[in-house]
Amino acid sequence: MAGPYVGTRDFYPEEMNFRNRMFGVLRRVCESYGYVEYSAPLLEPISLYESKSSEEIVNDQVYRFIDRGEREVAIRPEMTPTLARMVSSRIMELVRPVRWYSIANFMRYERPGKGRLREFFQLNADLMGPATPAADAEILSLLVDILTAFGAKSSDFKLRLSDRRLFDSYVKHSDKEVSRGIGRLLDKREKIGDTAFAEELAKIADADLVKRVNSFLTIKASDLSELGKNGAIDPAVGDHLNQVIEILAAQGKAEFVEFDPGIVRGFDYYTGLIFEVQDTHPENRRAICGGGRYDRLLGQMGKQEVPAIGFGLGDVTLEQFLTTRGLLATVVDKVGCFFILFPETRDTSLKIASDLRRAGILVETSLDTSVKIGKQMEAADKKNRKFVLMQGGDELARGVVRVKNLLTGEQVDVKPQDLAEKLR
Ligand code: HAM
Repeated sequence: MAGPYVGTRDFYPEEMNFRNRMFGVLRRVCESYGYVEYSAPLLEPISLYESKSSEEIVNDQVYRFIDRGEREVAIRPEMTPTLARMVSSRIMELVRPVRWYSIANFMRYERPGKGRLREFFQLNADLMGPATPAADAEILSLLVDILTAFGAKSSDFKLRLSDRRLFDSYVKHSDKEVSRGIGRLLDKREKIGDTAFAEELAKIADADLVKRVNSFLTIKASDLSELGKNGAIDPAVGDHLNQVIEILAAQGKAEFVEFDPGIVRGFDYYTGLIFEVQDTHPENRRAICGGGRYDRLLGQMGKQEVPAIGFGLGDVTLEQFLTTRGLLATVVDKVGCFFILFPETRDTSLKIASDLRRAGILVETSLDTSVKIGKQMEAADKKNRKFVLMQGGDELARGVVRVKNLLTGEQVDVKPQDLAEKLR
């Protein structure tokens, strides 16, 4: 039997229901911060990504083709360049800070595996305006609030922060390829383990550089001001990071974040704070989310440089995270009613169902009065309905409808005119 193209998913109604609900949580939290939704085309000229996105994405992962008009076209592998293009072309009209979010699909030609597919969705939330510690803290706070809205606790994930400039001032090598190689290796460190990391590092770096990388990895947040004073890093970088952490601490969110110099992020456009959310479950090693500050990308697209920061949160890894933590219940909850029909009361039951829908209640009815009650109950449960409604001859004579709550098993008789109110 033919399935979907490798690394992509069909969404059957059940999965679509889950997806819509998961995205609903993302939307609700973004909107609570004043973020507004935008959308964009699936196709972009390949030049939008070249020398702006990530070398790995452009060289190995982007789906590209020549269109009928001889243009080189890409299926979007990420949103950030598109967003920068859109915002910079209207920058004069937009009221800053610009707070935008989108939920869209992307394609990357990757080897599909756990947490990695060829087509995936991302929530992108980005903030364009002043490059202040308050702006950075807002984006991180939004991310924490999204994960906790699903019921996640601080022990379930780690939000790791660093600053791109720390790597640049501490590790960067005059040979771009060496720097890139070290960046890629740091990205894999968690996955391959310390021994393999040390072996691989020795292959690309000389003894002096190996020493620098190792000492870079031991930097703690409390070392930053000292490193700034003695000139090892720009003092403003450490001061900014410390302020971001202080703002989050004042909101009771310190327990969710940790400084980790090993975060590098493989995109060329990042200029400052960079971060990733890692699922702490040993089986889900992939990052759920990645982001950072990119203060020069909008300037490259248009006339004006506008500082920006944001993140991409992937649906595949988020779903895995929720599954292993038993947090799916917050997403897939039971909704609406299933009206079971009896032969003698079919028409009055269908009329009540119709009235309830007009009152805004989701009502699905059975269509065949010969099916046994037990089977109909089972169907209602499998369809994730919250209530079963029934009106047999006895209930009709008493002028009531029987309501069974499928979550609690509780049953009550309600007058048809009170039903909508009660079900709400
Ligand atoms: P990214 O780290 O490439 O960043 O992707 C962000 C998240 O998207 C990842 O953490 C992961 O959850 C998900 N993701 C990426 N590739 C795949 C894949 N092949 N299969 C499943 N999930 C995937 C960016 O894309 C940046 N543009 C984010 C950003 C927004 N930076 C600033 N604003």
